[in-house]
Amino acid sequence: MNLNELKATAERMVAGHRGLLAADESTGTIEKRFKAVGVASSEETRRAYREMLFTTPGMEKFISGVIMYDETIRQKTRDNVAFSEFLAKLGVIPGIKVDKGTKPLANSPDEKITEGLDGLRERLQEYYKLGARFAKWRAVINIGTDIPTHYCLRANAQALARYAALCQETGLAPIVEPEVLMDGAHDVERCAAVTRTTLKIVFDELYMHRVALEGMILKPNMVVSGIQCPRQAGIEEVAHETLRVLKECVPAAVPGIMFLSGGQSAELATAHLNAMNALGPAPWKLSFSYGRALQAPSLVAWKGQVANLAAGQQAFFWRSRMNSAACAGAYTPRMEKAA
Ligand code: 13P
Repeated sequence: MNLNELKATAERMVAGHRGLLAADESTGTIEKRFKAVGVASSEETRRAYREMLFTTPGMEKFISGVIMYDETIRQKTRDNVAFSEFLAKLGVIPGIKVDKGTKPLANSPDEKITEGLDGLRERLQEYYKLGARFAKWRAVINIGTDIPTHYCLRANAQALARYAALCQETGLAPIVEPEVLMDGAHDVERCAAVTRTTLKIVFDELYMHRVALEGMILKPNMVVSGIQCPRQAGIEEVAHETLRVLKECVPAAVPGIMFLSGGQSAELATAHLNAMNALGPAPWKLSFSYGRALQAPSLVAWKGQVANLAAGQQAFFWRSRMNSAACAGAYTPRMEKAA
């Protein structure tokens, strides 16, 4: 393991108030997102859409890295430059999603287990050759009656840790993503409790698997109320609860925590991140690794039309800029009016 390389990558991912664009939607997921704005999903429309995002002028001031999907990291710009090469030249680190999605967990079918460990070492080696310098694996934890079980948390944490160890062996900084979903009527306290137990078990397994914490990034959910919960926690409460749980569970050796947006609106995801950074110094950098919260306004502006390219890029640029301001604790909702 080359710890210096891993550390340098992880530190660059969170440096300078920048964050990640999660553009690693699987073919099925991007098809759903396209359908919502009336765009047919084909290899070429997916390529054109990702090219629009990646070639947004100036986005590199706010975006440190891009998480790609297997198809995307093999694609090129119109000018025939591989996306990973194009991004690296801008100083944006190419990354790759390497899990193979979730399946029902045997003997507890209401829960999910993430697959993709078989053959992973060889796939990681290929992605490194294709230019990737970090990777992502997402575990999904559902809150419901009697779930999550300890069995589910342990099984998913073990898979995350085995993935992270393999990444570090290959020279890829692993993003460790245990996502506690917001679906459900549970309150913010329940989300805090489940997130706490999840992170405790994840860091226990990372330790057992000898993962170097200095060379990884944590991508957690924020501690929020379930979507159907009648009482929705406010922005300050979410920030306090999230930081409290993270401080209890995440060692200071981890250089950065880059949140997922998980279905929050674009502006709320920015406000939550800002509130946490405004609370003052934390042991780790706090940044974003948003999918929907960075892309949704851009996708709506684009709608698959060449004529809308500039509008799509402007929307992505704006969300990137607002989230970068949130990394500095310098965002105010009033800034949105300038858009
Ligand atoms: P969202 O920000 O849309 O949750 O996506 C981030 C991600 O990469 C989920 O795995």
